[in-house]
Amino acid sequence: LASAEVDVSQIQPGQAIKTIWRKQPVFIRNLTEKEIAEANAVSVGSLRDPQTLAERTKEGKANWLITLGVCTHLGCVPLGAAEGENKGEFGGYFCPCHGSHYDTAARIRKGPAPKNLEVPEYEFTSDTVVQIG
Ligand code: FES
Repeated sequence: LASAEVDVSQIQPGQAIKTIWRKQPVFIRNLTEKEIAEANAVSVGSLRDPQTLAERTKEGKANWLITLGVCTHLGCVPLGAAEGENKGEFGGYFCPCHGSHYDTAARIRKGPAPKNLEVPEYEFTSDTVVQIG
């Protein structure tokens, strides 16, 4: 199946982009130190879908949060990747369809979605290029 190569060199901390892979939106987000700290401060056992930020990112690259942009409730595209969009109550992503809030590790925190935003298979092929799929 087709993979996609994405140059992430222009994505500053605090910014995200939306790209498309296998006809699905993918969010690539460069987390700030503060967003990383917020994600790591959460007690994992309290989460609906318990996962640490480290489990959702690559070693040494905890700032790169790469997920599908597909709400795990009924598949809407959450907001929060583009400049000025509503990131929800937990600073990550917000799905306006039925009000699911995701945190800075794209984990579900509030609303009807059952799961965290899915992390696709991906690899850094260099410091600035990610191959998705
Ligand atoms: Fe996202 Fe329902 S599809 S909250």
